[in-house]
Amino acid sequence: MSTAISPTAYNYKVVRQFAIMTVVWGILGMGLGVFIASQLVWPELNFGLPWTSFGRLRPLHTNLVIFAFGGCALFATSYYVVQRTCQTRLISDSLAAFTFWGWQAVIVGAIITLPLGYTTTKEYAELEWPLAILLAIVWVTYGLVFFGTITKRKTKHIYVGNWFYGAFIVVTAMLHIVNHASLPVSFFKSYSAYAGATDAMIQWWYGHNAVGFFLTTGFLGMMYYFVPKQAERPIYSYRLSIVHFWALITLYIWAGPHHLHYTALPDWAQSLGMAMSIILLAPSWGGMINGMMTLSGAWHKLRTDPILRFLVVSLAFYGMSTFEGPMMAIKTVNSLSHYTDWTIGHVHAGALGWVAMISIGAIYHMIPRLFGRAQMHSVGLINAHFWLATIGTVLYIASMWVNGITQGLMWRAINDDGTLTYSFVEALQASHPGYIVRALGGAFFASGMFLMAYNVWRTVRASNPAEAEAAAQIAVVGAH
Ligand code: HEM
Ligand code: HEM
Repeated sequence: MSTAISPTAYNYKVVRQFAIMTVVWGILGMGLGVFIASQLVWPELNFGLPWTSFGRLRPLHTNLVIFAFGGCALFATSYYVVQRTCQTRLISDSLAAFTFWGWQAVIVGAIITLPLGYTTTKEYAELEWPLAILLAIVWVTYGLVFFGTITKRKTKHIYVGNWFYGAFIVVTAMLHIVNHASLPVSFFKSYSAYAGATDAMIQWWYGHNAVGFFLTTGFLGMMYYFVPKQAERPIYSYRLSIVHFWALITLYIWAGPHHLHYTALPDWAQSLGMAMSIILLAPSWGGMINGMMTLSGAWHKLRTDPILRFLVVSLAFYGMSTFEGPMMAIKTVNSLSHYTDWTIGHVHAGALGWVAMISIGAIYHMIPRLFGRAQMHSVGLINAHFWLATIGTVLYIASMWVNGITQGLMWRAINDDGTLTYSFVEALQASHPGYIVRALGGAFFASGMFLMAYNVWRTVRASNPAEAEAAAQIAVVGAH
């Protein structure tokens, strides 16, 4: 077979690059997660240096896991899915290559600037203006490649997975550009264009929709392709997918104020955010049920297919965290949960259980197909990874529930004379065992990523990318 890449074949090169970097950044970001979790157990690990202090490494962790690990998984899968479901090659190889190198440059920029202390101080939007501009350019290019490819599709309708990816791309651009509006005063320092409560509202409109569109809608796009593919079943209900798509994107955008309960934000805005968050349970579960029910008649495959297990368990965690979220958005519940480790547990139920698990499942599905192999080097190692990830997630979130509720109750306990029953340090001491269990859970999860890296490396080493390209070409030609 010819090794030349025909213009009719899919562009797998950029997908391969993003897929491999998902694993690399996963190890780094989660490894750093374990490190900062250990700092909360053994403060000596801050080493008394500013660059290695918890305060600087924490935003690096969030940037690495969300934008580097999660982002690369989204780029890889969206480029793969859009080509295969539209039966056409990406509209431009050079623009796609630019998105890969540009995205890696942003991440390297984060690795350098965040430990040095350069930050806008806005959570999940910490990168200073030169990097924020680069990110915006890469993102707009991503939009051009994605939507350009859709316009030259060979299929009549647009597969629903692409609707979700499309919404994630458009809304992320909007959030990033609006929230980053700022006045630069030097190369490394800028001030937000907004002030006071307005700044807080814009920031959490961004922050919550980063969750809703980056960490949810994009990954639902992934779910709509990889769950039916791996289960070898059509999606349970196409109608439900359309209804929950519109409901999800209409509602998410209003829920941001639940991050600002009992603050200077007007009370009506807080209540609106709370109400919208509760309603959000419905479309979230619509998506979860649609994914789960796709397995009807194929449940037996879970016994033998660890990739399907990753995908299905991720949906279970998605369902769990989108039940928990609306509960935490209720003002009275939030008065207990806010500032405590309960929030951190909720975050990682979504981040580890949903985002990381579905990405891992999707990457295991794609790697053999991208590298011309029948399957991954070792199915046993995928299975071991699955158990490490599941046990790790459960340890993480269970310990943070216990810590969160303990902290919330201890902080609000009041003696008859109105003084506090417990000092802050007593609540901290009570949290110590939970921090140990969380670090252990994180170590389980991160060690699974090492198994994945080894398994991917062995699969790639025995690969034949030229054959993968050729097979893709035949698929395209056959589809004409
Ligand atoms: C081995 C896995 C991981 C470990 C051990 C870990 C550990 C941690 C720790 C210790 C914190 C700081 C908590 C605090 O301030 O009290 C944190 C924050 C955070 N992590 Fe992770 N993490 C892991 C994986 C992930 C992944 C995969 C994601 C996203 C896809 C993620 C997203 C976040 C976010 C968004 C926060 C900030 C939460 C907030 O501000 O409420 N983490 N993580
Ligand atoms: C219906 C869906 C959801 C709702 C209504 C919801 C609601 C909430 C609420 C009320 C908080 C606490 C805010 C606070 O007290 O400051 C929160 C925090 C958070 N949630 Fe969710 N959640 C949902 C789903 C998810 C999912 C699926 C993920 C991850 C993939 C996620 C990630 C986060 C993060 C990262 C934070 C911490 C933000 C911060 O303070 O830094 N949420 N969510």
